[in-house]
Amino acid sequence: MGKYIIAGNWKMNKLPSETCAFVKEVAEATRGAQCEVVCCTPYVCLSEAVKGAEGTHVAIGAENLHFEDKGAFTGEVSADMLLDLGVKYVIIGHSERRQYFAETDETVNLKIKKALEKGLIPIVCVGESLEQREAGITTDLIAIQIKKAFAGINAADAKNVVIAYEPIWAIGTGKTATAEQAEEVCAAIRSMLASLYGGETAEAVTVQYGGSMNASNAAELLAKPNIDGGLIGGASLKSADFAKIVEAAK
Ligand code: 13P
Repeated sequence: MGKYIIAGNWKMNKLPSETCAFVKEVAEATRGAQCEVVCCTPYVCLSEAVKGAEGTHVAIGAENLHFEDKGAFTGEVSADMLLDLGVKYVIIGHSERRQYFAETDETVNLKIKKALEKGLIPIVCVGESLEQREAGITTDLIAIQIKKAFAGINAADAKNVVIAYEPIWAIGTGKTATAEQAEEVCAAIRSMLASLYGGETAEAVTVQYGGSMNASNAAELLAKPNIDGGLIGGASLKSADFAKIVEAAK
């Protein structure tokens, strides 16, 4: 299976002034980690996050980017700007961005291509709403999201994409998908990748679960064969909780 990655998604939390010390705290709490540890922070926190992570095993990620190189896009941030700061990962297509900021499968695809072209590792979020799950269309919906996300991307590049399966109904609700539900969809994602790119590429891709993952449920989720890590919201804001999840990723 793919490489294990535990990534925190801070969302719109923490101040630039507290970021450096907090990232150092995360590095200290996760010392000896046997997986990649990532903190994805708001744009304005990134330079402080990079400073805090310097000389440690922690990598830093952004929560979004724009798909153009530069120009008249007020308020946007490019891949080159992120790279210039020392950022390694970027979350793309989080359901909150799809829901509140009109992110579509098409812009997600453009952003993934730009990230790959520039050498950022995209963490691409897919997932169904409760209504879609109850209508029995989870796998169909995710197949569409995956196919559109990977449109025009070759197998060599696809290996560098991280996928985060995040059921929308499990995000910030305290309602985690059961390990079986999460594994079922992550396995389906793996077979979608296999049919697009072949088994070798599918095995190389890291597939994470996200949605109310915490210190007490992480071990069971991460024990599943097709779950190679987690994208953690709330529990990434406390270093001790985050460290327990990292500890579970063995
Ligand atoms: P929570 O862990 O707070 O449910 O958030 C999950 C998430 O959306 C990570 O991207």
